[in-house]
Amino acid sequence: MSTQRAKLVVGNWKMHGRLAENAALLQAVAKGAGELPADVRVGVCVPTPYLAQAQSLLDGSRVMWGVQDVSAFTQGAYTGEVSAQMVTDFAATFAIVGHSERRAYHRESADLVAVKTQRALEAGLTPIVCVGETLDEREAGATEQVVGAQLDEVLAKLSVQEAARIVVAYEPVWAIGTGKSATAGQAQAVHAFLRGRLAAKGAEIAGVPLLYGGSVKPDNAEELFRQQDIDGGLIGGASLKDQDFLAICKAAAATTAAG
Ligand code: 13P
Repeated sequence: MSTQRAKLVVGNWKMHGRLAENAALLQAVAKGAGELPADVRVGVCVPTPYLAQAQSLLDGSRVMWGVQDVSAFTQGAYTGEVSAQMVTDFAATFAIVGHSERRAYHRESADLVAVKTQRALEAGLTPIVCVGETLDEREAGATEQVVGAQLDEVLAKLSVQEAARIVVAYEPVWAIGTGKSATAGQAQAVHAFLRGRLAAKGAEIAGVPLLYGGSVKPDNAEELFRQQDIDGGLIGGASLKDQDFLAICKAAAATTAAG
């Protein structure tokens, strides 16, 4: 049963946090995560200036850390950019790439997202590749076409071995920060579609973790995580409150073999 599969819950803090409040949040999450079963993995993707803080407070805990974006370049005269290699200096695990907020507000193309995924993989990071449709696209019946094209663009640039190292997050744009999560059925349907798309690339990557993101809260997490093809969550707003984030992690634990 796939609901027995291990789960992965990752917080995306977005552009939130200051040193003092981060310390309290990171320490509480590290402590709470220590009580989770081994088949629930937990991570937080913090604003880049706080990477060193995340490393110092999470090192030795069950919680992994990472960033919300990386440069498409390896190094050079690219003012303001942060390379994937720099991120690895802080023992980070994850780099979110292609979040819809970056696609929308920073005009990131599908091709750019694919290149960023390559840079993250080359550096040894685990890219969390985000895909998702807008409300207009969903209402036009284009959800599968949109998320399929977003995923394909990334897969086209990767070998099967590289593709096996990514995580994919399905984040419907209309569900992000709106309090209006996709229903478990809606999310599962898209996850099943994405699973098929991955399997078409190679049997080795059919098991790539597929996270759902978009208004995941303590009260809807377990139902989402019980779906056959949902391997965990990418959590925005609720990852800023230790109790909510840990409650979501516990909901994940309730759906695994050990839970
Ligand atoms: P919310 O959980 O705040 O809806 O954000 C989801 C998200 O964008 C995570 O990357």
